[in-house]
Amino acid sequence: MFVEAEDQRPMLEMDGPTLATSASIPIVDMSVLSSSDPAQRASLVANIAEACEKFGFFQVVNHGVDESLIHRCEMEAHKMFELPLDVKERVHRPPGTSFGYGANTWINQTVMHWAESFHMQLHPQSNIKEFSGKLFAESDPTRFSSTVEEYMGQIETLARQLLELLTEGLGLEPTRFNRYVENERMMSMRFNLYPPCPQPELAIGLRAHTDPHLLTILHQDEIAGLQVYIDDEWTTVKPCPDCFVVNVGDLFQVLSNTRYRSVLHRAVVNGTSKRLSLACFLNPPLSAIVEAPPELITTEQPQVYRPFTWEEYLTNAYKFHPAMGGERHERFFLERS
Ligand code: SIN
Ligand code: FE2
Repeated sequence: MFVEAEDQRPMLEMDGPTLATSASIPIVDMSVLSSSDPAQRASLVANIAEACEKFGFFQVVNHGVDESLIHRCEMEAHKMFELPLDVKERVHRPPGTSFGYGANTWINQTVMHWAESFHMQLHPQSNIKEFSGKLFAESDPTRFSSTVEEYMGQIETLARQLLELLTEGLGLEPTRFNRYVENERMMSMRFNLYPPCPQPELAIGLRAHTDPHLLTILHQDEIAGLQVYIDDEWTTVKPCPDCFVVNVGDLFQVLSNTRYRSVLHRAVVNGTSKRLSLACFLNPPLSAIVEAPPELITTEQPQVYRPFTWEEYLTNAYKFHPAMGGERHERFFLERS
């Protein structure tokens, strides 16, 4: 049930945690935000915008998130995955629903991902305390939730800064898209645990996909596995423990009228080491209408997508990218006469 069809297999160059090292995904230093020199901010914005246009991915250092908190959150994730299966099943995610513990299976997917995953939401309504209480009822029912909530809170601060920097990079007022995250914003998070795999060349941790959200902020541990599809090749994002990997989601591609790209990525597995990643997603409210602003619509670059709500997108755009095995949902393109 984990063996991928031949054309879906990851073609690993090597078996092991050192799969490949190409690292064209740029690393940007956010500490310049505290500098009083406007030229420094301008160059940060330009570097981020260039990365979003070329790769849809970049990494950040000096991001303001507490290093010890990242470590504590990783420890909590490991403790959660190490719980006995019958305990984890107290928070089982039923097929077709969004939150809880499960195998992260996609609709119509017959081959399973080589991964365990656990998906939670901080806003609009946190389910983290409830999960924590069920998982750790016998030990400490609140330690897990307080760590995860604190982590997501700090990531949210970072996500808002990044939203403004990316917006500025489009030549807009930095706060232009803040209305999408002001009230009822949505922040969710997924822990991904990829156990060592006896035949990593046959299986996949997470299939090629684009993220539907506005922005993703991912922390990967020291084991490689995240790959981004750049120039017709899978490029491994070299782990950098002090960094977060940031990527443009489909919604930001739409808001930027395709100047920024939501790029295919996947997670591969290896034969020796388990790997943990923590992915946080920034979303607008479900009823928010997503549409590129008029400044980004020109004769050279006419409007690509029609306006739609995040809710409509979530319910209809599953497997949006053709490479994800689904048909492309033409319904989101603007019809022209
Ligand atoms: C993801 O795409 O959400 C996770 C990829 C990873 O585990 O690095
Ligand atoms: Fe992703």
